[in-house]
Amino acid sequence: MNSTVHANAMRLPEPLSTDLKTGLMDDDARIERANKTVGQMENVFLDELSRRKMDAAKLVYAVEAWKPVAEGTEGGLYWGNSTVFPGMVGDEYFMTRGHYHARKDRAEFYATVSGRGLLVLMDEHRHASVQEMGAGTTHYIPGKVAHRVVNTTEVPLTFLACWPSDAGHDYQTIAQQGFSVRVMRRNGRPEVVAQS
Ligand SMILES: [Fe+2]
Repeated sequence: MNSTVHANAMRLPEPLSTDLKTGLMDDDARIERANKTVGQMENVFLDELSRRKMDAAKLVYAVEAWKPVAEGTEGGLYWGNSTVFPGMVGDEYFMTRGHYHARKDRAEFYATVSGRGLLVLMDEHRHASVQEMGAGTTHYIPGKVAHRVVNTTEVPLTFLACWPSDAGHDYQTIAQQGFSVRVMRRNGRPEVVAQS
């Protein structure tokens, strides 16, 4: 489908299609995709011994991102989705690594497409908060707040995200310090557990 072209037309990125039933995007040429496997998530889960015994190729989560402007552009926005697959490492549910933004004050929206889980949020004083995710839940993640998504079910959890193009990602702080809570399965149910 071509946009209408006028004299002196603006140059704009062509729209792309996001399937609102699946959250997935359709444009291989313009979408960046990344997968995280069990083998790539060293020291993320509490039970590192169990993780090492698992199939290293098993997918934990997959990400698609549309970046219509260059990384670091001030005032631009990015659009993407993530799917956290069902699974456990020991008694801990599959989850994303979690991050702050490199430019810490940058905020983000998440909107759940399908599945259920928990959005774990933590400020720089390590105060944590957890929000339930389910189809349609829309979450505002303020700046200076680390965020991680946990799939607490047996089906994939997919959410859309919109974030500033100059936000960047700081995975290192979480890799070193972790979150102050973990979501563990206790008596068959998810429980938010304090973590020193
Ligand atoms: Fe983010």
